[in-house]
Amino acid sequence: MSFQQHSTPVLANFALAKNTYLIRLQCPTLAAAIRPGQFVMIRSPRSTDPLLARPFALYDTRLDERGTPIGIDVVYLVVGKMTTLLANLKAGDLLEVWGPLGNGFPDPIGDQHVALVAGGIGQTPFLAHIRELLGTRGYGGRTAKPRVKQVSLYYGVRSADLAAGVGDFRAAGATIHLASNDGTLGHHGFVTDLLASHVPPQHLYGCGPEPMLHALATQAEARKIPCHLSLETPMACGVGICFSCVTPVKTSDGWDYKRVCVDGPVFDAACLKW
Ligand SMILES: Cc1cc2nc3c(=O)[nH]c(=O)nc-3n(C[C@H](O)[C@H](O)[C@H](O)COP(=O)(O)OP(=O)(O)OC[C@H]3O[C@@H](n4cnc5c(N)ncnc54)[C@H](O)[C@@H]3O)c2cc1C
Ligand code: FES
Repeated sequence: MSFQQHSTPVLANFALAKNTYLIRLQCPTLAAAIRPGQFVMIRSPRSTDPLLARPFALYDTRLDERGTPIGIDVVYLVVGKMTTLLANLKAGDLLEVWGPLGNGFPDPIGDQHVALVAGGIGQTPFLAHIRELLGTRGYGGRTAKPRVKQVSLYYGVRSADLAAGVGDFRAAGATIHLASNDGTLGHHGFVTDLLASHVPPQHLYGCGPEPMLHALATQAEARKIPCHLSLETPMACGVGICFSCVTPVKTSDGWDYKRVCVDGPVFDAACLKW
């Protein structure tokens, strides 16, 4: 495993939706190396509370006018100590960041239509993934080339005011299908039910709360669609040392634990033990 550790200046930090912010970090070499589905660990050098770093997915890389990566964007929902601290940062403040971490999304099976299914704050890994799939951006040294013809994003939120980045996903070229638990945005109900009412794609990718991922894995198995899920398991180190992030997976002789930070965060849904 090879990752970089940087003290990175914040370039911008602004709201995208209720309690949801985009933070832009200046880290050119990390931005040049990271791929969709990979993540970074972030901690504040100015505080020991929280002491441990927190994992955040790559939202997208930021390029200069010549197309050279200069930094990364991370989108976060304020839920606790670290995300509250992040929401109070200003341009010029420093953060400690290490990455790229984890395996990232595998290429799809099939070259026509894939669907990305997000729930809660699970939309964050999908902006860069859409651009890589449609070939409008290359990441981590990979050449930009179209891998599929169509990408559909199914995005479910509790309520309309929590929907973050929909304009970015649309501008990146995805066909957008929205759902909300309270009926204030798109389909009234679960995003997995919305997906089930549509023609099956060739490959599914999911990220979000565990019950949603379980429902997606069940649907993928029933409809015989290959499916990869990005897990949001809490992590302490992010680099494979502490074993705080393990998840059960099926093996040839039963099951075993895998570390989400180094063996994931993206897993074949058929291998996960629920
Ligand atoms: C690979 C990966 C990628 C991720 N990408 C993103 C991303 O792009 N954007 C994003 O927003 N998140 C992402 N997450 C989730 C993110 O890491 C967590 O939301 C983050 O760690 C929260 O940190 P925190 O310090 O703000 O919250 P914490 O203080 O650690 O709290 C976390 C949760 O525990 C609850 N909690 C805290 N203390 C207590 C208590 N005493 N009793 C009961 N409940 C409590 C909080 O309400 C909250 O729900 C990702 C996770 C993984 C594993
Ligand atoms: S977070 Fe430490 S081993 Fe995964």
